[in-house]
Amino acid sequence: MPKNFLTILDIPRDEAQQVLLRAKEMKDNKVRTDLLAGKTLLLIFEKASTRTRVSFEVGVRQLGGDPVFIASKDSQLGRSEPLKDTARVLSRYADGLIVRTFGQEKLETLVEYGDIPVVNALTDEYHPCQIMADVLTMYERTPKLEELKVAWVGDGNNMAHSFINGAVPFGYQLSLACPKGYEPDEEILDKARGLGAVITLTDDPAEAVAGAHYVNTDVWASMGQEEEQAKREKAFAGYMVDDALMAKAAEDAKFMHCLPAHREEEVSESVFESPASIVWDQAENRLHMQKAILEWIYK
Ligand code: CP
Ligand code: NVA
Repeated sequence: MPKNFLTILDIPRDEAQQVLLRAKEMKDNKVRTDLLAGKTLLLIFEKASTRTRVSFEVGVRQLGGDPVFIASKDSQLGRSEPLKDTARVLSRYADGLIVRTFGQEKLETLVEYGDIPVVNALTDEYHPCQIMADVLTMYERTPKLEELKVAWVGDGNNMAHSFINGAVPFGYQLSLACPKGYEPDEEILDKARGLGAVITLTDDPAEAVAGAHYVNTDVWASMGQEEEQAKREKAFAGYMVDDALMAKAAEDAKFMHCLPAHREEEVSESVFESPASIVWDQAENRLHMQKAILEWIYK
């Protein structure tokens, strides 16, 4: 059975720690291997991407493999060839699929009908590779993750869901502030809590951020929600991470954002460009973490 990485919970708890340590080692030692020699990994993207696409293409090469990028609009997928057919065809050519798409069920279809590993490069529901990299970004500053309070201010979206899942293996305390009607999925929250994660949910950003060591946010309208921008700007009024909000966090708290960011919307220019902002390290860590995830799948 091929290993897949559709959500953070696909990695057993103890192995998640190993993946984290390996990503750090890969970063510190600029690791290159031939693990993927002779292997071709297809990147299928139904949404735009800078960081995820480039870090996977570079990462696959640094592990000795060949990445092949497919923009779905230029393929038969964009003309409605069924995913279950595409999965069976691509399994005959390649050794893995790295997929950015809409519904999570599309990845599940690829897993069901294909017979090569599938990696989630972002869906409407989850962004697990990003949060694994974000955990690395926190770990390299504050290795005792279980002593951290991590705040999420904004939409209960794919990023929030993966932060919720990440609280299970990595043990940080997560406090989310989401406007009413934009809370994370209850099932995802309940499942993580049932697995021992300590997670609070409020609609007051100041409450969520109080004493937090890391303050995270993301765009208010994700890819695919562009037409809701105006409605969301109203709903998220008061949710901008600005200097006043950061002042309520722990001393020396850091600001995090997966990027791309909308300045003066979810984050003020002053916070985004401040010394507290660690967004470029987050972006860099995508590369190191994805190599560690690929090693977990293929070794
Ligand atoms: N953070 C992130 O996934 O960025 P891209 O959309 O550029 O891949
Ligand atoms: N929530 C955002 C993340 C982008 C990396 C989106 O899905 O568009």
